[in-house]
Amino acid sequence: MNEYLKHDEWCMIEEGFTPENHRSSESIFSLGNGNMGQRAMFEEHYSGKTLQGTYVAGVYYPDKTRVGWWKNGYPEYFAKVLNAPNWIGIDVKINGEMLDLAKCKVSEFVRTLNMQEGVLIRSFVAEMSNGNQIQVNAKRFLSIVTSEVGAIRYSVAALNFDGQISFNPYLDADVANEDSNYDEKFWDVLICKSSNGEGFITAKTKKLDFHVCIGMKYDVYKDGQKLEMLPSIKEETKYVSNTVEFDVKQGEELSLYKYAGVLSSLNHDKNEILEDAQKVVAEAYEKGYESLLEEHVAAWASKWANSDITIEGDVAAQQAIRFNIFQLNQTYTGEDERLNIGPKGFTGEKYGGSTYWDTEAYCVPFYLSTSKPEVTRNLLIYRHKHLQKAIENAEKLGFTNGAALYPMVTMNGEECHNEWEITFEEIHRNGAIAFAIYNYIRHTDDKDYLAEFGLDVLIGISRFWSQRVNYSEAKKKYVMLGVTGPNEYENNINNNWYTSTIANWCMKYTQEAMAHVKETNSSRFNEIMNNLKFDFDAETAKWNDIIDNMYYPVDEETGVFLQQDGYLDKEQILAADLDPKVRPINQHWSWDRILRSCFIKQADVLQGVYLFEDQFDEETIKKNYDFYESRTLHESSLSPCIHSILAAKIGDIEGAYDLYLRTSRLDIDDYNMEVHEGLHITSMAGTWMSIVEGFGGMRVQNGQLIFKPLIPKEWKSYSFKVRFRGNLLNVRVSADEVGVINEEGDDISLFLIDDEYVIKKDSSLVIEHS
Ligand code: BGC
Repeated sequence: MNEYLKHDEWCMIEEGFTPENHRSSESIFSLGNGNMGQRAMFEEHYSGKTLQGTYVAGVYYPDKTRVGWWKNGYPEYFAKVLNAPNWIGIDVKINGEMLDLAKCKVSEFVRTLNMQEGVLIRSFVAEMSNGNQIQVNAKRFLSIVTSEVGAIRYSVAALNFDGQISFNPYLDADVANEDSNYDEKFWDVLICKSSNGEGFITAKTKKLDFHVCIGMKYDVYKDGQKLEMLPSIKEETKYVSNTVEFDVKQGEELSLYKYAGVLSSLNHDKNEILEDAQKVVAEAYEKGYESLLEEHVAAWASKWANSDITIEGDVAAQQAIRFNIFQLNQTYTGEDERLNIGPKGFTGEKYGGSTYWDTEAYCVPFYLSTSKPEVTRNLLIYRHKHLQKAIENAEKLGFTNGAALYPMVTMNGEECHNEWEITFEEIHRNGAIAFAIYNYIRHTDDKDYLAEFGLDVLIGISRFWSQRVNYSEAKKKYVMLGVTGPNEYENNINNNWYTSTIANWCMKYTQEAMAHVKETNSSRFNEIMNNLKFDFDAETAKWNDIIDNMYYPVDEETGVFLQQDGYLDKEQILAADLDPKVRPINQHWSWDRILRSCFIKQADVLQGVYLFEDQFDEETIKKNYDFYESRTLHESSLSPCIHSILAAKIGDIEGAYDLYLRTSRLDIDDYNMEVHEGLHITSMAGTWMSIVEGFGGMRVQNGQLIFKPLIPKEWKSYSFKVRFRGNLLNVRVSADEVGVINEEGDDISLFLIDDEYVIKKDSSLVIEHS
């Protein structure tokens, strides 16, 4: 762990400059607006350790695969989120000396991410080698109103000298990905243009032909007066800049305002992208920094009004949940069904910015409750559009008859990961995609989605499962061999309880979905059956035979569901007995040792217990929780949230609270010592779940909401909002009361603790609880 950030309800605050923490802070203080994002790099030159990262949504690169030993079926490429041309740069010289925090004396350094307003602020005093001291105040934001615009105010005051300050605002397309497989650079620059007060660069990716155009305009002010500028202009092959120099007297401050536009060919015609960028930048410049900021802050206020969670009495917990919600809202806004949520969002290169099962298993519940249904619907449609590719993906592996295997990692529907144990074996992801359809419908009641888009996806997935199992004569049961469950510390195992459980559920649910579409829209049903050449009797008979005869490993003695065949043959050591020095084990142990150990990376059996909770009594849940929690290392960010929810379910409130802190402060306090690589965006939705589903005890059953809240002793109260079928509810829990306000929508009937209540439109209900 590395706890260096100050606790505050609305801000992330770093006091004092510690270069060793800089890469981690670049991740934590990242900004994004759904359309683009960037790490919290410095505007001015910095020669210390940094991971420069500027990302544009949907723009990626198919980097040539690099594997030790090629296997048939491996994807040809590994998609990379592209480090895009950088627009924030402002070099600063003080009497000719470059400001570089790695080289000068830095004091009074404070970096603040104001999450309420969506702005990154930095201030410090720097002493140059000749003793000149300056005070710097920098503030920047990526507008969530005009999502192609970013703006910076960068002020420098001369503290103890009269002299010269120069600014060099620039744009730079000479950027690389740290994780490039062959050290290649991925951009060709097409246009570099600069003139007095502005600059533009258009670059295109070497493959796939994405175009990105970035532009800037700027002004410099002293004492509220705009200064005349005579810049010296640079236009290089990948770089443009203006240098402006000013004389200052001791105590005077210069402020540079930089306005940037970032446009991509996803949204603009390639032939017009430069012209469009010129317009976007000119409009931002005309509007001015303060007005852009004002509308941006107002838009954040309305985002918070719908998605905030308040926690009274525990600043660390409050800060953490806001950080998680803030980062999710910065990453995905749900307006564009071509986009998805990479595990690192716009904060780093790891996981290539691609789509994983994380979206369906973790992010969908968050967006369902905090946004309008269209947002989640767009996430589902994203997969619907990839159905044909999923069928082709399954065909490549030898499946037939329209069986669909969605990729573990993808940008455009094709598999683009090349570790066989993940690519070929972590097939449980197919189940999460089906479950998300179910989850969306139970939450929104949009059953028509099945006829429109859902059913053919479900059929493709169920066809896959029915071919992926085989009948074991020895067991007289269907088995599923050679899989990797969610716990990636086991590969190529047989009969992973979770995978088999979700596979069976998919085949059942698909039949329910078929029955619904047949009953409500028979012509569409027939159309789907014909399109898919679905042999109803034969195919469903096979599915039902599998459903009735699936093999699940269980320890007969204790009733614990076994993660896989032979799990109990492993030496059973508990996580508590592991020397903390070897954790995380993936940074200390050989892969061979990890695979043979009983240690579990992330919720696996418990992922299934969580999803299908209704099928198990409380004793079974507790038995499995106790067994697996003691063996789980939570070395995937996706893990502690699920355990926290189950701990709350079985009444282990202290355990739930510890796991809540672990999930919510995972990045802030760097539990797994990897935050320098970027943030764990997708698991942040799990943090939200651990409050709303864990402590809040929210469930949807038979079309109704249920809340069975608990409250950790550390909290005085907490509150959250939930959108459900046209209602917006505000739930507040304190030690002795639970209150629900029906803020939007008609009367709603729901369960609070054990009883059913009707809460009228625009009214509220408060009941006591113990
Ligand atoms: C986890 C996967 C997850 C991926 C991306 C891995 O460490 O084991 O379950 O999909 O990270 O978040």
